[in-house]
Amino acid sequence: PYPFFAELRRQPGLAQVDPLGFWAVSRYADVLHVLKNPQLFSSTGHRAPAEPEWLGRSSPFADSMVMVDPPQHTRLRSLVNRAFGPTALGRMEPRIRAYAQQAARELPLGRPVDFVESFALRVPAAVIGELLGLDPSLHSRFKRWADDINNTSSTPPDAHEWRAQIRSTYAEMEQYLKEVIAERRRSPREDMVSDLLASRVEGEALTDAELMGFLFLLLIAGLETTVHLLGHSALVLAERPEVFARLRADRSLIPRFVEEVLRYEPVAQTILRLTTAETELSGVRLPAGSHVMLLLGSACHDEAQFPNSDRFDLDRQGQQTMPFGYGIHFCLGAPLARLEARLALEALLDRCGGLVRDAAPVQWHASIVVRGPTVLPLTVLP
Ligand code: HEM
Repeated sequence: PYPFFAELRRQPGLAQVDPLGFWAVSRYADVLHVLKNPQLFSSTGHRAPAEPEWLGRSSPFADSMVMVDPPQHTRLRSLVNRAFGPTALGRMEPRIRAYAQQAARELPLGRPVDFVESFALRVPAAVIGELLGLDPSLHSRFKRWADDINNTSSTPPDAHEWRAQIRSTYAEMEQYLKEVIAERRRSPREDMVSDLLASRVEGEALTDAELMGFLFLLLIAGLETTVHLLGHSALVLAERPEVFARLRADRSLIPRFVEEVLRYEPVAQTILRLTTAETELSGVRLPAGSHVMLLLGSACHDEAQFPNSDRFDLDRQGQQTMPFGYGIHFCLGAPLARLEARLALEALLDRCGGLVRDAAPVQWHASIVVRGPTVLPLTVLP
C-alpha cells in the first residue's frame, strides 16, 4: 500500500474514499492533529457495523473504551489502567519469557515452517489467555474466536452457516468469561480479572457488562496485532541478514529494532473518527458528522517526519512515531506489546542462527484495519 499512500500525500487536501464516503487523512501532521482533538473528532461514530442485526445481540465491545469519548472513556480507562502498568507488567515478565523460550525450543529447525503458526501466534495467545484468566488448554481456540469476531462486520448477507458459527463463538466466549468472572469474584487471585474486579474510581467499580466488554476488546486488540508485529519482525530479519547479525551481536538493539518495525510496517493501519462540529483539515471544510479515516500506515511513512521513510533503518532514532495512536486513546497495551516482542525476539535469537525466506509466497491479512502476514513460510537455521 505504501506507493499508493505516497501518492495520496503528494495530492493537496484530503482524498475521499468511495463508496464509504470517508475522508482519508494521509499526512503525519494531519493525523496527529485529529488524534490531539478528540472533542472535535469523536470515537463514537462508527459503531453500527459492529452490531449487525442478525447477530441478535449488541456487540459486547460496542461500549468499550475504544469506541467512547470522555467522560465515559476517562472513567473506563482509569479503571483498567493499573492492570497494564509497570507493576502488572513486571509480574508477568518472567512468565512471558518462559512462554517465549518454550515456543523457541519447539520451533523446528532446518526445514520450512509457517512462522506465524509455529512461533508468532504462540506467545501472544498465551499472554492474552493468561490476562483473560482462561485455562491454558483453551489457548488454541483463541485464534478462531478472534478471527470470527473480527469477521463479524464483513459477513456476506446470505451466509447462514457462517453467521451461526459467529453467533456461537460469541456465546462460547461469553460463557467462558462469565465462569472466569464468577470464579475470581469467589476467590480472587494475583491476576488481571481479579485486579479489575477490585478496581475502583471514586468508589465505583466496573459493571459486569463493562468488564466483559473490556475482555472481548483485549482479545480483538491484543492478539492479532502482536502476532502481526512478530510476523513483520521475522520477515524484516529474513530479508536483512545484516540486521539479524547486528541484533544477535548486541541484544540491546532489540527495542530500537521493534520501534522501527512498528514504523516501517505499522500493524494498525487505520483509525476511524467522526467530526462533532464543522472543522477544517488540510484546507478542506468538513461538516459535522464527517467520517474520517486516519491512515497510520501512511503517516508512519511520511517523509516530512521520517527522512528516507521507505528504508528500514535500525539507526533511525529520535523521531516521534505513532503506530499505537496518540492522545487519550493511545494503545493501552503498547508497553505489553513491546515487552512481548522483545522477549520473543530474545528467545528467537538464542535459538537460531538465521531466518531464510521460503519459495512459497507470504499470505497477507486482507484488511484495511490491520496489516500483517497470516502465513509466513520460513526456514529457521540452527
Ligand atoms: C488502542 C495499536 C497491541 C489493547 C490502540 C490504538 C492503536 C493500537 C493504534 C488506538 C485506537 C484509536 O485511537 O482509536 C496496537 C498495536 C499493537 C497493539 C499496533 C501491537 C503491535 C495491544 C495489546 C493490547 C491492546 C497487546 C492489550 C492486551 C488496546 C486497548 C486500546 C488500544 C484496550 C483502547 C485504548 C483506549 O481507547 O483508550 N491499539 N495495539 N493493544 N489497544 Fe492496542
